[in-house]
Amino acid sequence: MERWDPPYEARVIWKPGAARTGRPPRLSIRCRGEGSGTTILVEHSGGTSLRGAPREEQELGWLATEVVAPLLLAIAPARLAEWADDRGGRRPSGPSSRALYKEPIYHLPGFHAILEGLALRKDDLLLEVGCGGGALLKRALATGCTAAAVDHSAEMLAVASQQNARALAAGHLQLRYGDATALPFPGERFTCAVMSGVLPWLPDPVSAFREVFRTLRPGGRFVAWTSTPKMYGTPAVGPKRRGGARLYDDRALTRFARKAGFSDIRVDHPDLRPVARAVRVPRSARFLFGPEYGVLLWARRG
Ligand SMILES: C[S@@+](CC[C@H](N)C(=O)[O-])C[C@H]1O[C@@H](n2cnc3c(N)ncnc32)[C@H](O)[C@@H]1O
Repeated sequence: MERWDPPYEARVIWKPGAARTGRPPRLSIRCRGEGSGTTILVEHSGGTSLRGAPREEQELGWLATEVVAPLLLAIAPARLAEWADDRGGRRPSGPSSRALYKEPIYHLPGFHAILEGLALRKDDLLLEVGCGGGALLKRALATGCTAAAVDHSAEMLAVASQQNARALAAGHLQLRYGDATALPFPGERFTCAVMSGVLPWLPDPVSAFREVFRTLRPGGRFVAWTSTPKMYGTPAVGPKRRGGARLYDDRALTRFARKAGFSDIRVDHPDLRPVARAVRVPRSARFLFGPEYGVLLWARRG
């Protein structure tokens, strides 16, 4: 967590009315830098017991617990980053995320690599975990396959439904609200499964992979597209920090897949810079599609 610069102390002292005696109630706010964070003590003291206390004393207690402490928590520097992560990636919401995930330009090169590798056919039944605004589904469904998808953002599901309204109406697509670690689908249903840009937001990737494994038919193939740890510190991901995006090296990804029960596991680092150029990713960001920044994990249910 980032820290506020100063160790400082602010005090609010509530002056009692002239006729009142005793120690005036006070609210003190003390900040102490500790390690990489800041400890803040908000203390309401003095005065009489709150029950039956004069209204102004009650107001000070209310101010301490209901206004000052939550406000300080909300404006902590790390909270801003958490908010942006949630709204932009972990559980996208708000108008800009709804617009972005309709056609997520920075994910299009990944979609290209996924679809090329999966080579979907009409008889495929595809599962997408964390479908966002349904842009990959739209491309997948164009191959004639059928699909089902899950996301835990209601706003993303609404965008995905609009984008794939025809496929939904024709019964070629099922969209479900749910979590990656408890998929709302029966076992052995799908011929293939995909996750694009979801791994960084999963607290427990192995549990999610186990669910994919459970819902795949024997022989079913799985592909996950994600960024490598080299992406930390770039404008796409920002600095590595607790609670932020989690990026894994090839060994960790392979281990997750093996623990979930998969076989035929391999990782690919395609050079997607030409695709990035073709889909008009801005020139300054194209280097992020070089082989060292992105990874495809391929696996099969044996
Ligand atoms: C960065 S977005 C990627 C969206 C889409 N796959 C794409 O590539 O454009 C991550 C998506 O995964 C979803 N997601 C993250 N964690 C999830 C979970 N535990 N269960 C279901 N969906 C999840 C988010 O709501 C979001 O829509």
